[in-house]
Amino acid sequence: MVSDGARDTEMTAESQALPTMAPLITLTDAHMGDVNHVIINRMQSDVPLIPELASHLIAAGGKRLRPMLTIAGALFGPDGSVPDSALKLAASVEFIHSATLLHDDVIDDSDKRRGRDTANALWGNESSVLVGDFLFARAFELMVETDDIAVLGMLSSASARITEGEVKQMVMAGQPDAPLEDYISVITNKTAILFAAAAEAGARVGGASKPVCDALHKYGLALGRAFQIMDDALDYASDTKSIGKEVGDDFVDGKITMPVILAWQDSNAEERAFWQRTLGDGNIAEGDFQQAQALLQQHNAISRSLDAALAEAHAAANAVDILPDTELKSALISAAYFAANRKH
Ligand code: IPE
Ligand code: IPE
Ligand code: MG
Ligand code: MG
Repeated sequence: MVSDGARDTEMTAESQALPTMAPLITLTDAHMGDVNHVIINRMQSDVPLIPELASHLIAAGGKRLRPMLTIAGALFGPDGSVPDSALKLAASVEFIHSATLLHDDVIDDSDKRRGRDTANALWGNESSVLVGDFLFARAFELMVETDDIAVLGMLSSASARITEGEVKQMVMAGQPDAPLEDYISVITNKTAILFAAAAEAGARVGGASKPVCDALHKYGLALGRAFQIMDDALDYASDTKSIGKEVGDDFVDGKITMPVILAWQDSNAEERAFWQRTLGDGNIAEGDFQQAQALLQQHNAISRSLDAALAEAHAAANAVDILPDTELKSALISAAYFAANRKH
C-alpha cells in the first residue's frame, strides 16, 4: 500500500511554484457576479424539481474555470469591455459543464461531487439525466440570444464532441492495453474542447482579432488536457476531502486513464494479469485499489502523468505568446500551470 507520505511526495514532485487561479479570479471578479446572476435566473423553471436539483449542484460552487475563461476572452477585445453576450456565453458554458457532470455522475455511478452527495445519489438517475438535458437546452437558448451564428456553431460542435469523448471512453473501458493516443483523443473531446470553445467564444463576442481567438482556442485545448490528465492522476493519488469526489472511482469503473496505460506498458505478466482481472474483468477485491496504487508508484506512472500535464501547461503558455503582455495574459499562464499542479 502507498503510504500517505509517499503519495504526498509523489504528488508534489512537480509542484515547485504552486501557481494558482487567484490572478484569473481577481481579474474576472467584476463580471462573475453578473454571470452568476444569469446562471441562477436561467436555471429556474415552474417544475420545482428542476431548480431544486440544479441548484444542489450549482450552488455547491465548483471552480467556475470555464466561465472565467469566457470573460477573460472578452477582455482581450479592442476596448476590453465585457458585452452582455459574453455574460450569456459564460453562463452557457457553465450550463454545458453542469449538464455533462449530471450525466457523467450517472454513467460513472459516482456518489460524491463538490464535497456533496451527487444528484443521482439523492434523486436517482432519471432525474439527473432529465435535469442535465434541461441545462443543455438552456445553454443553447442563451447561445441563440447572442445572435452570433459562429459562436453557436463552436459551442454546438463542442457539445457533440464531449459526448463523442464520453462514448469513446465507455467503449475503451476495461482495455488497459489501449494506446495513449486513444486516451488523448478521449480527453481532448470530453474535456479540452469545452475549455477551448469557452475562451474562444468570449474573445469573439468581445471583438478580438482572429489570431487572438485562435491563440485562445489553442490555449484552452492544452489547458483542458492538462486539467483532465491531472484529474485522472488525482483519482489515484489524492483523497476525497481534497477533490470533493470519491477517490478510486476510475479504478472501480474500469476506466482507462494515463496512469494505468503507462503502468500497463511497463508491466510484467503477473502485473498484466492483475490489471486484466480488475480493470478488464471488473473482478475487484478488497485491497486491489491499494495494489493498483502501489503498481502505479512502482512504475512512476503518477509522476510521469504529472510530467505530461506540465508539458500541456507549457503548450498552453506558448499558445498565448502572441498576446500583449498584460496582467490578464500572466493570469492565463498561471491558470494553465494551476491545471497541471492542482490539488482540487
Ligand atoms: C470536473 O471539472 C470534470 C473534469 C473535466 C475533470 P471541474 O474540476 O472543473 O469541476 P468543478 O466545476 O470545479 O466542480
Ligand atoms: C470528466 O471526466 C467528465 C466530463 C468532461 C464530462 P471524469 O469522469 O474524470 O470527471 P469526474 O472525475 O467525474 O469529475
Ligand atoms: Mg466522472
Ligand atoms: Mg475524474
